[in-house]
Amino acid sequence: MFTDLQKKVVIITGGCGLLGKTFVKAVLDNKGIVVVADINAEQLEKLKVEINSPDLFTVVLDITSETSIKSAIGSVQKKYGKIDALINNAYPRNKNYGNDVEKVTYQDFCENIDLHLGGYFLCMQQFALFFKQQGYGNVISMSSIYGVMPPRFEVYEDTDFTMPVEYAAIKSGVIHLTKYFAKYYKGKNLRFNCISPGGILNNQDVRFLRKYNSLSLNKGMLDREDITGTLLFLISEASQYINGQNIVVDDGFSL
Ligand SMILES: NC(=O)c1ccc[n+]([C@@H]2O[C@H](COP(=O)([O-])OP(=O)(O)OC[C@H]3O[C@@H](n4cnc5c(N)ncnc54)[C@H](O)[C@@H]3O)[C@@H](O)[C@H]2O)c1
Repeated sequence: MFTDLQKKVVIITGGCGLLGKTFVKAVLDNKGIVVVADINAEQLEKLKVEINSPDLFTVVLDITSETSIKSAIGSVQKKYGKIDALINNAYPRNKNYGNDVEKVTYQDFCENIDLHLGGYFLCMQQFALFFKQQGYGNVISMSSIYGVMPPRFEVYEDTDFTMPVEYAAIKSGVIHLTKYFAKYYKGKNLRFNCISPGGILNNQDVRFLRKYNSLSLNKGMLDREDITGTLLFLISEASQYINGQNIVVDDGFSL
């Protein structure tokens, strides 16, 4: 156990995904209550069976719908009487996401920004309204090293993927939105921070990994569990006066 979260109620959007699932387990392991909020109802059911904890609750949530967010806040408030933290972690993208910058259409660029940056904004806005009434609240949003540095295109050479241009715009936007919200809610006992991980191991091509790792300091590309300490710290009281900040967790890749 890293820290005792003392039954804090933590909502994790995109909680069925790669990092989300790891975050769910970490919060439960540290005595928190988790609400997994994901657009994928089937995956939510699977996760409930897999984790099988009395401290796990699930809601179907679309981060791009104000009605859906309001309804999720309502059902969590009804069940637990409070919400301590929102983890903005969903990863929506449209079917053409991931193209080379020269092939990205205006429509695809805008749609991906709407879904991801727009969805993060909407969650921050709607939860902040709730948190203001509640008298406290904590929002942690997932950004990325690619929100703070330009892509290292050389690590993608000879692979069939790239660092999407939309991602750069979205993730830098998430960092700045975090600062905007933190300042806007001055005096209201609300916190807004973000975490910027480097790439996370997920069966990537070995040639890509070799290049990526050569630019890191000790371990190389991180495992998903390597991000949980920072998340738990930001949820906990130990980080009480950290506000409007971005914490990079990348084994020095961005240096
Ligand atoms: N995986 C990485 O290498 C990495 C690195 C840095 C940052 N991040 C960030 O971490 C976060 C999580 O990434 P991941 O790799 O775990 O993603 P993932 O694709 O594995 O999971 C994303 C989850 O979001 C859900 N989702 C999609 N659209 C949604 C919507 N409209 N509303 C609610 N839920 C929705 C999906 O159903 C899925 O469960 C993202 O913000 C991502 O940018 C990931």
